[in-house]
Amino acid sequence: MSEAKSYEVLLEDGVFLPRDLPLWEAAKPYLDVRNNDEHTVGVYALARMLLRDMPEADESVVLPAVVLHDVGWKTVPEEELFNAIGSAPTRLDLVREHEVRGREIAAEILDRVKPEGVDIDHVLAIIDGHDTRDTAISPSDAVMKDADKAWRLTPNGIRLIKEWYGDEATDAWFVEMVERRSNPKMLTPVGIAFARAITASLKADMMLDRYMGGSHA
Ligand SMILES: [Fe+2]
Ligand SMILES: [Fe+2]
Repeated sequence: MSEAKSYEVLLEDGVFLPRDLPLWEAAKPYLDVRNNDEHTVGVYALARMLLRDMPEADESVVLPAVVLHDVGWKTVPEEELFNAIGSAPTRLDLVREHEVRGREIAAEILDRVKPEGVDIDHVLAIIDGHDTRDTAISPSDAVMKDADKAWRLTPNGIRLIKEWYGDEATDAWFVEMVERRSNPKMLTPVGIAFARAITASLKADMMLDRYMGGSHA
């Protein structure tokens, strides 16, 4: 078997469920700012994994909510996008703004695409508050919130966040940011465990010199 073929086998199931592909296509034009498209694919994959440990959550609510949760950032002026996030945000009002506008855009998309068996009111309620509401309105909301925050600790999230912030984004900056701003917001046992474990491994990476005498490659 060639290497290319083995990759095909490895990835043949894809990330998105067939039900959600039309939603993804409809959302994509709204996700081409600040890597929200890559972010959404990663959050979806994480949400599917978290759902395995959260049978009380409803995948037909969580996954459509994931696809549509950040469409509202498209309406925020591009030069302001980075002032709404990071370790010291100055435009937190824009976080609320992207939820409100995101709910409106998501309602239009859901009305147009009409995914079967999806509780649209629940999906919209989750989008409206996915960042600014620290408590969950349902187990499905908790899974969506945790997948969104957990993305920061994935290879894709770490790479993109470090790209966004450039020299400021040292390993120490990154760990401080997640420990202060996102890990405390995790809600599900599986999400909390994931955040703790990855953060511990990042700290271990930062301490390699202490234990390896600076000899590691
Ligand atoms: Fe968001
Ligand atoms: Fe997000």
